Amino acid sequence: MKYVSVTTENIDEYLEKYDVIACSLRNSRIKAKQLAIMEVLCCTYPLKSILIMNGPLSNIKGFISFFILKEYTNVLPEFLKNLGYCDEFFLLDFDNPHSKSGFKTNNIKLIWKKRKFSIRLFYEQSRKLYRKQSPHNRHFKIMGYDGEIKDVYGYRGDGTERGRRALPVEDARCLINLALPSKIRTMVDPFAGAGGIVYQAKYMDKNIEVFSVDTDKTLEPGLTHYGSKHYVGNSALINFDDYTFDALITEVPFSLDALDDICNALINFDKYLCDSARIVIMLSKEQFRVIKKCVMALNWYITMPFVVNRKGTGIVIIVCTKSTQIYNEMKEIMDVVKNIY
Ligand SMILES: C[S@@+](CC[C@H](N)C(=O)[O-])C[C@H]1O[C@@H](n2cnc3c(N)ncnc32)[C@H](O)[C@@H]1O
Repeated sequence: MKYVSVTTENIDEYLEKYDVIACSLRNSRIKAKQLAIMEVLCCTYPLKSILIMNGPLSNIKGFISFFILKEYTNVLPEFLKNLGYCDEFFLLDFDNPHSKSGFKTNNIKLIWKKRKFSIRLFYEQSRKLYRKQSPHNRHFKIMGYDGEIKDVYGYRGDGTERGRRALPVEDARCLINLALPSKIRTMVDPFAGAGGIVYQAKYMDKNIEVFSVDTDKTLEPGLTHYGSKHYVGNSALINFDDYTFDALITEVPFSLDALDDICNALINFDKYLCDSARIVIMLSKEQFRVIKKCVMALNWYITMPFVVNRKGTGIVIIVCTKSTQIYNEMKEIMDVVKNIY
């Protein structure tokens, strides 16, 4: 993954080959800039996007900017639709700096490295689709006590700490993007719940073979309906024979009494993960110390730990790998990103 610092000397070289795209963070995730940067870099990885460390508009809250090769700009929306933390994208026009576009500049001068530009909306995610996909509205199927399959909308679990099921769309997408979806052919969610991650993985790329596990048999029809090869069972014990996955992506149950099961599940899945697999886990801040110890004992590297504040609850997202090469590549970009505020 690449990053650059632009100067008045090198700006023209870049503008000849690249378009500048400014991404605006969703209001609900406006404080998670570093995570949003990593998500955009991972999601647009096949397009060789480049993070601009000192980009234009960086003085406006919630903006990050990237170079994208001009020949890739027309396919970019196919990737931008999959992002979780950013939802509006702007194209900077250095050839027509006086074009009017309706973008509210709040008297900010549109000049970057002595080059004037204008700005126009390039792509906006569909709000209607976001609402349809959100846990409050999403269509799901559950197994009733009478053994009948029921259609439900906005299924959010049984309200217990272990059974809470409502991963927001932006977080589910972000977790999948951090696992580099362009490289995933098979993935597993060992704590699948009502399928926030399964659903988004299939939305992003229906060709990804998605597997899931959950102890609660109520969820089986819904997860199968979303296109997962679903297993009712305990992830600490489940047997996938000689199957291997390119990614493990999950939101674990946040309760402390689930820690043993979570660690045993990671130990169990270690043998089913290929050497270049990416493991992306959302956990509670209180669980971090124990899960980190387990990950270290498995000789996995933690490439990116992020702390997110979700409605007052401390949440941590970790991205792990078994590969020294992937770790070194990710460490380089993370060292840069962690200094961007
Ligand atoms: C936080 S929820 C996952 C929510 C999910 N990300 C969603 O979008 O709905 C955690 C899930 O783990 C399941 N679970 C708990 N212990 C488990 C175990 N040992 N093996 C498999 N699933 C387990 C619970 O039944 C619950 O559905």
